[in-house]
Amino acid sequence: MKLFDPLGTGSSTVSYAGLIEKIEILRSTLRWAPKLERADIEKLLGQANTLRDEVMQLSRKERFVAAAEVEPPMPADAAAAAVPTARMRRQALIDRSFVFEGTFGDNPKLLAALEIAEKAAPTDLPVLIDGESGTGKELMAKVIHANGSRADKPFVSVNCGAIPENLLESELFGHKRGAFTGASSDRKGKFESAHLGTIFLDEIGELPLIGQVKLLRVLEAHEIQRVGSDERIAVDTRIVAATNRNLRRMSEEGQFREDLFYRLGVIHLTLPALRERRDEIPLLFSYFGDEAAEALKRRPIKMTPKLREFLLNYAYPGNIRELRNLIYRLSCLAGDVADIEHLPEDIRPQPATAGRFGAELGNGVDGTAAMPISLAEAKRAASDEAERTFLERGLQETGGTVAELARRCEMNRSHLQMLLKKHGIRSKDFRHRDDAGRAKDGK
Ligand SMILES: Nc1ncnc2c1ncn2[C@@H]1O[C@H](COP(=O)(O)OP(=O)(O)OP(=O)(O)O)[C@@H](O)[C@H]1O
Ligand SMILES: [Mg+2]
Repeated sequence: MKLFDPLGTGSSTVSYAGLIEKIEILRSTLRWAPKLERADIEKLLGQANTLRDEVMQLSRKERFVAAAEVEPPMPADAAAAAVPTARMRRQALIDRSFVFEGTFGDNPKLLAALEIAEKAAPTDLPVLIDGESGTGKELMAKVIHANGSRADKPFVSVNCGAIPENLLESELFGHKRGAFTGASSDRKGKFESAHLGTIFLDEIGELPLIGQVKLLRVLEAHEIQRVGSDERIAVDTRIVAATNRNLRRMSEEGQFREDLFYRLGVIHLTLPALRERRDEIPLLFSYFGDEAAEALKRRPIKMTPKLREFLLNYAYPGNIRELRNLIYRLSCLAGDVADIEHLPEDIRPQPATAGRFGAELGNGVDGTAAMPISLAEAKRAASDEAERTFLERGLQETGGTVAELARRCEMNRSHLQMLLKKHGIRSKDFRHRDDAGRAKDGK
């Protein structure tokens, strides 16, 4: 029997129309099939799974586009100079069907990295990604893989810092049976497993010098030798490496081979730390809040003003990973509203120290608010809080209708949108719900 062809629409771009069409074809295959063999059922199940993954992908993309919708309009001077805004740059990537793999944000440095990734992806040039821990280096490596011609081939990740020195060669290049004690059978290494695909060499700065020499040889000759074997095996693997160390300085100090540094870093990307994109923190709360709600099958959490203030001021030494993990933790532990008590104990503010400014911020004397370090900061925090309360109350009263709120407070609508974005407030969360729980339209 002829089964539905999942690629039949001829497009890899996920769209509602495309998905509905695929689902309809799948349904009619099932409806008209006189009888299904087990093999057919398995095949259809596989196709249903693909469809489910595409729906998930679409929902991520939707969140991405939804966040872009509240972007402030292009400032007049930027328009005059024809400098593309973050929104235009991101939209251009979306229009070119760039695969973001869930990478979120419109910080100029992040967008620059994505634009370089887009150009580097279709080539086989090595890419070196650096940035602090948790800034998204592995995610960026996956973005490069997903946007290239090797996307349907393996992506093999190797943590160079986690392999003991005596096993390094065997891990990377494999070994022949009997090559050393314990080598009871022939074994492929990571490079062979990544043949035709991408190998991601994480924590490359931790690779011992002996490993660096061997890696350099692979980069030059595109072939490997398993430990204990004379046979040369050709490998066609795209190399993406990452580090949170300064490889240039390491190579100047003789800790990393300079020739390898230059070979790996033909294309060099640097990812910004979260402290360089603090203005995006509220957006990241919503983004990961929705993601966590989806994963945990619950409604997105709300935060008390105290918790929000703390999280807006927190330093995030672990960057986006830490922020994401915190939001997942809060989403898991809290009911509808998360508060300071749901934070991990080691980062929770101490009542004794925070008490001094708690009252000043209107957070009560239990002092669980983030600690402002100066009067100016305390004033800014108080004014932000007042602004936020004003916006939330206004949206409550207008049933989430931004245009109506703008009219009532005689404000420019796009300025209002910008303020909402700054606080990570979504007007749709304030739309009135009908009896069936559906949000009524309230543009
Ligand atoms: N821009 C981003 N948008 C969405 N999620 C992100 C972004 N950057 C990072 N993440 C998420 O943060 C987490 C950490 O990312 P990743 O593992 O890529 O960081 P890393 O730089 O490799 O960290 P490490 O140096 O500790 O290995 C992942 O869950 C990733 O999906
Ligand atoms: Mg990593």
